[in-house]
Amino acid sequence: MASVRKGQKMVLVMVGLPARGKSFTARRLARYLSWLGYPTRVFNLGEQRRTELGGRQTHEFFDPSNEEGRRIRQALAQQVLEELVLWLRANGRVAIYDATNHTRARRQAIRERCETEGFAVQFIEVENDDPRVIDANVRETKLSSPDYADMDPEAAVRDFRLRIAHYAAGYEKVADAEGSYLRIVDRGRQVVMNQIDGYLPSRIVFFLSNLQITTRSIFLTRHGESEYNVEGLIGGDSGLSPQGRRYAQELSHHMRERLGETPFEVWTSTLRRTRDTAAPLGRPVAEWRSLDEIEAGICDGFSYAQIRDKWPHEFDARQRDKLGYRYPRGESYQDVIQRLDRVIIELERYRTPVLVIGHQAVCRALYTYFMDLPLTECPHVPIPLHTVIELTPRAYGCEETRTALEPRPTNAEAPSH
Ligand code: SIN
Repeated sequence: MASVRKGQKMVLVMVGLPARGKSFTARRLARYLSWLGYPTRVFNLGEQRRTELGGRQTHEFFDPSNEEGRRIRQALAQQVLEELVLWLRANGRVAIYDATNHTRARRQAIRERCETEGFAVQFIEVENDDPRVIDANVRETKLSSPDYADMDPEAAVRDFRLRIAHYAAGYEKVADAEGSYLRIVDRGRQVVMNQIDGYLPSRIVFFLSNLQITTRSIFLTRHGESEYNVEGLIGGDSGLSPQGRRYAQELSHHMRERLGETPFEVWTSTLRRTRDTAAPLGRPVAEWRSLDEIEAGICDGFSYAQIRDKWPHEFDARQRDKLGYRYPRGESYQDVIQRLDRVIIELERYRTPVLVIGHQAVCRALYTYFMDLPLTECPHVPIPLHTVIELTPRAYGCEETRTALEPRPTNAEAPSH
């Protein structure tokens, strides 16, 4: 069995008929891997076709008996593959080739091209034959495509179904002999693995087997203002200030207003200030060590001015690279992201709303994931005290609403990680 070597670049080749959720899966996976620190990019063949040909190709273009269409489609597929190779050679770690790749011959050609570059190849086949799911996918994502601009929606649906039929006629499922693959059937009802070996491939499998499509909100907030916040100190395990306690009450009202009787989960860190913020909600709370604030090591319990005076080199190093800087005997933002991986997997898996009461650095890291921000922005995302950030992941993108609640913290300029 061919295994992925440490550091080896990977090409994930999507496989599946149109409207099965390949692009959704590819984008979610790219977001996850980028967030974990693996530079990842999706190369989408449909987008390339629309860029090169201006879109609006009707089903005849995809008919395998249309020689001209076939020639153009093959040339475009090759062009995308070469762009992917160039990118991966230069600076990428994982490239996702998002196209139907529905024949064995096509997949074999991709594998051979990638393997001459030394890249590991893994197929990700997305299978779903539920007509309701396919129909919903067509209506939600395909009708808004430039392919169907100005076309009557029902005519567009008919055309897209014919396009699917052209692909279905020649579709060959990925076979064991084709090497490493993962097949996701009916949105994760069944997950089939073949020759998955290595840390990154296993992590990919784990993520994709937990991915849900359900739309529900995730509420992020920092704890109410703490006694340490008032004093301008970082770290520690202090209780809430009087303002912080009032915020905890306001948060409970806010959640009742937003969700009414809808059940929701409450997750906190193991630190007192988050648990005390959750108390007025009167709900069961799951405490996560992974949600604890960034560990400030030898700097814990000091103010930033004190840190600058005592350890000027450390202070400057952190200013220069806030993402990678690790406090002596403590953590970096990148370390925090690694330990939040479990939290992300659980958030992806849950179908009910979740309120996460965390800390500045952990909220920044979670926010960066959901909003698909570059990692370099993570340590700078504004996450003010006494503010609830409601995130609603959609098929493509994530909606955000911020609500500042009463009262204003005593020390609104409190230092932050
Ligand atoms: C497209 O042109 O829309 C996609 C073609 C493919 O994935 O085979």
